[in-house]
Amino acid sequence: MKTEREPREMNRRHFLQTSALAASALALGLASKRSAAAESPKPGEAAVPQVTLNNGVKMPVLGLGTMTLQGDVGVRCVADAIALGYRLIDTATIYNTEKEVGEGIRQSGIKREGIFITSKLWKSDMGYEQAKRGLQASLDKLKTDYLDLYLIHRPAGGDWRGSWRAMEELYRAGRIKALGMSNADFAQMDELLAKFEVKPAVHQIETHAFFQEGPAYEALKREGVQMEAWAPFAEGRHGMFVDPTLTAIGRKHGKTTAQVCLRWHYQRGIVAIPRSGQKAHIAENLRIFDFELAAAEMRAIAGLDLGVTQFPEWS
Ligand SMILES: NC(=O)c1ccc[n+]([C@@H]2O[C@H](COP(=O)([O-])OP(=O)(O)OC[C@H]3O[C@@H](n4cnc5c(N)ncnc54)[C@H](OP(=O)(O)O)[C@@H]3O)[C@@H](O)[C@H]2O)c1
Repeated sequence: MKTEREPREMNRRHFLQTSALAASALALGLASKRSAAAESPKPGEAAVPQVTLNNGVKMPVLGLGTMTLQGDVGVRCVADAIALGYRLIDTATIYNTEKEVGEGIRQSGIKREGIFITSKLWKSDMGYEQAKRGLQASLDKLKTDYLDLYLIHRPAGGDWRGSWRAMEELYRAGRIKALGMSNADFAQMDELLAKFEVKPAVHQIETHAFFQEGPAYEALKREGVQMEAWAPFAEGRHGMFVDPTLTAIGRKHGKTTAQVCLRWHYQRGIVAIPRSGQKAHIAENLRIFDFELAAAEMRAIAGLDLGVTQFPEWS
């Protein structure tokens, strides 16, 4: 989907400098609110562990991405995923899948409160008034009266500060349970953390074995902002599903390459939202909580980092 990704400028140095200065204070304060440690499910709960965000909201560590899953396929995938145990569904205005997500949830028979819905404000709705209208349009399509997480999808250009102020109001009014960013640069994250009342709880960025985003990973951890990976398989680019290292590790554990990728995210404390239009893959992607990658395997995967986006068309 062409409109999904666009150039991103990462002012890493600024965010990292700020983060380094704040690190000792955070170690005493914010770090206690850190979300990286996942909590195991209790008997009777869905089989996906949760993290606690910096505002106390709980978020499943694994969810279903829905980009391109439009129409009946989307409804079926969402309903199937929930039946299998997924409780986090990721959508966005620009994906045109919010209606499908709402319908899939209704068909699943699970109560709204049992599902964590993320949606995203698109650039055309940027600004204070527009953001309020943007959220309402998403709620209408989903047929719900609140979102669990609302992200500014791509804050490059436009009045993203105005959007955030509107989102803060909607958060206080209970229409959004947690606020976050996607594809923000380091200066924007700095500004949000320093100058706004409601801090970002989540930052959703491209992250996978071939683009591990180490500096962002460290900085977000220090700041108590939950990192969330979009394209956790890099959409299979650069041969991710047949990578020899990932495949060999999987073989050792009796797991697929996809499961190794997702387990690696989980062990790093990153929320991942793999997309699949196939029920077998949706089920497979959930079976990652019954094995553990050894330290040497984590190091081997760390060695796969190419340090560059696998979506250069958007850089
Ligand atoms: N915030 C942002 O800017 C942004 C950008 C991109 C994506 N996202 C979100 O992140 C989600 C995930 O990213 P993505 O959709 O770009 O890509 P992805 O999850 O990295 O990869 C999806 C691809 O992997 C395949 N796949 C899934 N499970 C598999 C398995 N077990 N074995 C083999 N192949 C498998 C799928 O094919 P099948 O359908 O055949 O299984 C599909 O072609 C999106 O859907 C969206 O919700 C956000």
